[in-house]
Amino acid sequence: MTTPEIPHSNGRTLRPIPEARIARPGDREQNAARLLRVSAKHWYDPLTEIDWTTPVDPDQYALPAHRVSLYGTPLWDSLSSRQRAQLSVHQLASTAAAGIWFELLLMDGLVRHVFEADVTTRHAQYALTEVADECRHSIMFARYMTATGYPSARPSRRMRQLSMLQNLFNDTTMMFAAAIFAEEFTDAMQREMIRDDSLQPLGRSVARIHVIEESRHIGYAKPELERRWARMSAPRRAMFRRVLTVVAQRETAEIIHPQVYALAGLDPRTAHRLAIANPYWRETRTEWARKAVGFFTELGIIDHTVRPAWKRASLL
Ligand SMILES: [Fe+2]
Ligand SMILES: [Fe+2]
Repeated sequence: MTTPEIPHSNGRTLRPIPEARIARPGDREQNAARLLRVSAKHWYDPLTEIDWTTPVDPDQYALPAHRVSLYGTPLWDSLSSRQRAQLSVHQLASTAAAGIWFELLLMDGLVRHVFEADVTTRHAQYALTEVADECRHSIMFARYMTATGYPSARPSRRMRQLSMLQNLFNDTTMMFAAAIFAEEFTDAMQREMIRDDSLQPLGRSVARIHVIEESRHIGYAKPELERRWARMSAPRRAMFRRVLTVVAQRETAEIIHPQVYALAGLDPRTAHRLAIANPYWRETRTEWARKAVGFFTELGIIDHTVRPAWKRASLL
């Protein structure tokens, strides 16, 4: 299958690498060497690639309307068209803020992974390359928040708990699984943004760079998770399934900060309650989670013991 080209705002054409095939354990160095070669060719500095001076149109949506958490609810009907557009921009900015915290956790985990590895391997060198990608992404997301007037965000208590969990267990396998979930979820959202040229150009420029570089991260994490899962004992697998379910629920809950609703003049509690019960928003989460869920199901990480919990979270 050929990978579609992505026209970039500066006239160049960006070509994402084809979705990586799952590598056998012996392919680990080969896979890393390939990812390093592609990284050297296709990496983007968002500070120079994106024109941050372009004014942001307050009436333009950043996400398709039906992907905004309140779409179709009575509260949505009560908003003016500009307020709805603003809500979509703030939802994207809030997702970017959550993205920064996920990336910081991932960078932390990758650095520890390298610390325990042989740095002369391509595998370890690619991990460092991924850290460099994520550094640029986090700055890019922060710049997006500033450009759209989204107030600075600090990690929530939920994010702090996730980070404490990671420090406590220092579990590289869980780090790869959590990264796959967050990266596939974001990838699905951003591919929709790239396809829809009625959306805000700034958000779409951010999405283009992110989709291209993240496809490599997914191609690194998937075979690594597969390799580690194959060696895991049955009792550890049972525990791993449960912990990943909680991590995925928390990652999804984190993407909409309550201040998104407050900024639109809505009561955050009421809005949050409506969003949670909103069938459009449930459907959106299920669709964006589909690729990660498919991969986890194929490996047996999602099985009958945790399927009901993934369903309750609208991730399946
Ligand atoms: Fe990223
Ligand atoms: Fe990534």
